[in-house]
Amino acid sequence: MRRIITYGTFDLLHYGHINLLRRAKALGDYLIVVLSTDEFNWNEKQKKCYFTYEQRKQLLEAIRYVDLVIPEKNWEQKRTDMHEYHIDTFVMGDDWKGKFDFLKEEGVEVVYLPRTPEISTTQIKKDLK
Ligand code: CTP
Repeated sequence: MRRIITYGTFDLLHYGHINLLRRAKALGDYLIVVLSTDEFNWNEKQKKCYFTYEQRKQLLEAIRYVDLVIPEKNWEQKRTDMHEYHIDTFVMGDDWKGKFDFLKEEGVEVVYLPRTPEISTTQIKKDLK
């Protein structure tokens, strides 16, 4: 069984997120989404989410490609997550290209998938304003 992991905020869930999750799941059999907590977003990225962690988690859990949702609380947990969850492949959108190549040292494959053009949470917020 190939185990895939991906990280993100997934606020105001949109089709760019769904595309990412579908392609991530297609790389293996079990997909874990590590979802940024509200505290992590605020403290580390100065980002305030529209939906709370629990609301974002519920939405992700309702998606057929997602098998497990766990919290992202800090930048350092990635290395340990790879071992704790027996990960084969780490996946992110290519806005992060190269940033997590160091995880190869933990024995996982690192894949950056092309982002879906035009859509993002930031864009949705901007357009609605
Ligand atoms: N993603 C994607 N295509 C998009 C938007 C997001 O493939 N159009 C991917 C990102 O690359 C990341 C995951 O979805 O791997 C979660 O991204 P996140 O940052 O939560 O979503 P964004 O819409 O990019 O949000 P923001 O504008 O706040 O950065």
